[in-house]
Amino acid sequence: MVQKTWMFSLCLLFAASVLVSCSRNRQGEEASEIVIGEFGSLTGTTATFGISTKNGIDMAVDEVNQAGGLLGKKVRVIVEDDQGRPEEAQTVVTKLITRDRVVAILGEVASSRTLAAAPVAQQNGIPMISPSSTNPKVTQVGDYIFRICFIDPFQGLVMAKFATSTLKVQNVAVLRDIKNDYSVGLANVFVENFVQMGGKIVADESYSEGDTDFSAQLTALRATKPQAIFVPGYYTEVGLIARQAKNLGLTVPLLGGDGWDSPKLWEIGGEALNGSYYSNHSSMDDPNPVIQEFVTEYKARFNEVPDALAALGFDSAKVLFDAIRRANSMEPAKIRDAIAQTRDLPGVTGSITLDQERNAIKPAVVLRVQNGKLEYVESVSP
Ligand code: PHE
Repeated sequence: MVQKTWMFSLCLLFAASVLVSCSRNRQGEEASEIVIGEFGSLTGTTATFGISTKNGIDMAVDEVNQAGGLLGKKVRVIVEDDQGRPEEAQTVVTKLITRDRVVAILGEVASSRTLAAAPVAQQNGIPMISPSSTNPKVTQVGDYIFRICFIDPFQGLVMAKFATSTLKVQNVAVLRDIKNDYSVGLANVFVENFVQMGGKIVADESYSEGDTDFSAQLTALRATKPQAIFVPGYYTEVGLIARQAKNLGLTVPLLGGDGWDSPKLWEIGGEALNGSYYSNHSSMDDPNPVIQEFVTEYKARFNEVPDALAALGFDSAKVLFDAIRRANSMEPAKIRDAIAQTRDLPGVTGSITLDQERNAIKPAVVLRVQNGKLEYVESVSP
């Protein structure tokens, strides 16, 4: 009997503490702050992805807090480093939701990491906005998963068109990262479109994220005499591939997608990258005053030219803040509904409207790498 009463009080105590923590955090309108989660690769071979995104998000958070916050509360972001590993992405997102009780999540950049973590957000009913994951499967995870960028079927089409119409090449080789959903997906759509446009894929080789020696694949490619090589990978491997390709006497242009975008690309690849091209979300040379204002502010704060990820990070936070304001609530379900209704939100990366599939329809740019600079080549609208 004594033991039963004791157990009963323990249960009561537990129930009470759960209630208190609920009202203090998620959904608690009396909470003094709005807590948002962010996850990304702050370390590892794609560290600049996470760092640039965080810089952009920090700028947006400071801006909103300086203007008085949201719903009369300060916004606080809890950032987790997933080290660029999908399993770790899932772990940190679980932690953000269950321990930190965040009302929404920003991240990830890389599609494989977003794909690993999104089911956790979906099952817990916490909205997640990826600033930059372009693989189509990402938002198909469920109705709580959004992105504010274009998707790879479009990006692949842009580069296939660029190869045939602008570069006028017929024979192209592909070198894809088979451990990476983004790379495999983008390679597939490029091949499909390029072949449809009359081009020929003379070789299709693969590597795995983290590899450092690409000589076997490059030697095999060289034998097929390609006029260009499509390498839809991330900057660390792409930089090394560019160097090793030049050393093997391959002087044809390399082509790629947004995964090349990093201040470190040139550091790793150097002059071997000259004359290469990749598709991206924005060009920092765009005279549009919205972009130039962002570039000036970013440079003053972080001492470097922002990459597209910084701009997308900034825009993802803006979309979320705008949704929380319209929802006029900290309830994740209401925030979800408001995000889904995002229309014509003016972002640094263009006007953002989310479609039925929770994707943004936006133009892409093609950039040329030349002596450490990114030269704007063309814009392509969907
Ligand atoms: N689109 C890439 C992916 O889905 C990530 C990325 C976006 C990398 C923008 C660099 C710049 O994996």
